[in-house]
Order: sequence, then C-alpha cells, then structure tokens
Amino acid sequence: MTAVTVRVPAKVNLQLAVGPVRPDGYHEIATIFHAVSLYDEVEVAPAERAVVTVTGEGAQSVPAGEGNLAMRAAAVLAEETGVARPAGITIRKRIPVAAGLAGGSADAAAALVGCNELWQTRLSQAELAVLAARIGSDVAFALAGGTSVGRGRGEQLTPALVTGQYHWVLAFAAGQLSTPEVYRACDRIRAARDAAVTRPRPSTRLLAALRSGDPAEVAPLLSNDLQPAALSLQPDLRRTLSVGRSAGALGSIVSGSGPTCAFLVADAEQAVDLAVALSGAGVCRSVARVTGPAPGAAVVSSPRGASPPPAPQTRSGSPS
Ligand code: C5P
Repeated sequence: MTAVTVRVPAKVNLQLAVGPVRPDGYHEIATIFHAVSLYDEVEVAPAERAVVTVTGEGAQSVPAGEGNLAMRAAAVLAEETGVARPAGITIRKRIPVAAGLAGGSADAAAALVGCNELWQTRLSQAELAVLAARIGSDVAFALAGGTSVGRGRGEQLTPALVTGQYHWVLAFAAGQLSTPEVYRACDRIRAARDAAVTRPRPSTRLLAALRSGDPAEVAPLLSNDLQPAALSLQPDLRRTLSVGRSAGALGSIVSGSGPTCAFLVADAEQAVDLAVALSGAGVCRSVARVTGPAPGAAVVSSPRGASPPPAPQTRSGSPS
C-alpha cells in the first residue's frame, strides 16, 4: 500500500455557549459546529519511523513531533488496533493554526481516516469517532463534518438539519490565540462580573433558522460566549467585526476561541464584495470565501481509489 490522501474541513461555531468548569478542567459547552469549505490535506504513507512534515499556511508554528495531534491520532489508532507499522504523515495546511478553526483537530481526524485506510484496520466511522473524542474536543466533529450540535466538552455530537448552503467570509488575523488562554480569560471576565454560569443549552431558535435555509434568519442568532474573552486578548478584532458589519455582512462572529472572524453573507456575490472591503480596510492578514456545511474528513486518493465524500447534510429536496 502506498500513500492515502485525506481532505478535511475547518469549522466555525454558529453558537458557542460555555458553562461551568468541570472537575477534569474542561468547560461544559453547548455548541453548533458548522464545517466550511476550507480544507487541509493530509497524506499518510508507509515509513521507516513515525514522522510528520508540515507545509503551507502557518506550517512553522505546527509542532512537528509527539505534540502534533495528527501523530497522536495515528499512535492512538495503532495502539487500539495492534498495528506496528509506522506512518509518515504529510500535512498541507490551508487552515490557519491557532485560529479558532480547529485546524489541528482536523489534521487529527484526517490522520485517523488516512491510517485506517493505509493499514486496512477497517474501523467503522462510529469506532473512529470514539478514538477522535479521546484525542481532542473538536476531532469527532472534523470527522463528521456537516452541521452538528456538540455537547459535553464538544465531543458528543448530534447532527443538525440544515437547508441549503451558507456563504461565509473568513478574516484571518495577524496573530494567534491559545484556546486554554481564551477559556481562562472567559472565566476571569465572568468572575469579575460575578456572572452566574448556567448549564449551556443549544439554541432552538438558531436550529430552526438553519432549517429555514435563510441566512438573514440565521445571522442575528449567531453567538459566542468566548467572544468577549477573545476581544479582550486581541482588541483589534473589534474593528475587523465592525468593518465587516458596515460592509454589509448579515452577521459577524469570532470563530471559536478566535482570532478568525467569520461573516455570514447573503450569497456568493456579497461574499466577493465583503472580501474586497475587508482586504481594502487592512483589518486582517487575509480573507477566504467559503461555504458550509462541508463534508467531514474523506479519502480523496488512495491506491484503491477514492471513497466518495459523504454528502453534506441538507434537507432532502431542498435547494442547495
Ligand atoms: O480538547 P482540546 O485539546 O481541543 O482543548 C484544548 C484546551 O481548550 C483544553 O486543554 C482546555 O483548556 C480548553 N477547553 C475547555 N473546554 C472545552 C474545550 C477546550 O476548557 N470544552
């Protein structure tokens, strides 16, 4: 068996409700994950020893050794299935690192799918999802793709029904944010305000709006409890959000723990206009136009031929 290539999407959180800290140090969350058409490509191939090579967007800040989530994913799968053959992993990054887009989790999900094919270990999607949840909070979602409600620390998924495709513009920031730091800042802000931290719940209004297929209904319901924390750590993002809103975005939000800002627009044409406006205003490092929901981690080339990527979740018979 030679190389297997897997394509895996970034995510934005359409809602991120953060609850109390649990005894294991994670926060209880309720989130609506939405995979978007910005993909990393991960190639796995037989190698003398387990090794990872990273190229592309922000490659220099991805850990190359044991700290790499894709390496860890391959090690977890090998251990679980008793495989003793090492894999060489090559990650071609398009998803910025430490950007609130779950790029590292995506690479881990891709490594699971790729090594499962390379080693012919034949774990089912459900079995891979169990391993994914052990590796990181967002890995199971990168495997699934589409749009899902996430509970627990984000790893317990229930698919959501979504009509059509939504158009987004992503504004990539110059810096990075560390997810644990953003969660800690969220806790500090809440403690200073003496705010009651209640059990997080998925927004039924947002889920209904997603079924409607109308971005104008979805846009005002986007919410992120980590946004004040991300803004406190990178105050420049306020300007990025306000420029996007003035330039006609229907909705604007910091993606996950940031610093990427995500703008929901009406259609592909508005996405072009907004991307131009954001670039022209100099409020971000670069922009990307994407759509969601996008499919989860899928083999795009292998010696046995590519498996067809799963269809995005849309209501049957709905426009796309
Ligand atoms: O699970 P993952 O490695 O993606 O999480 C990174 C860090 O983000 C955790 O170590 C934790 O500090 C924080 N986190 C959290 N609550 C969550 C998810 C992540 O506090 N639900």
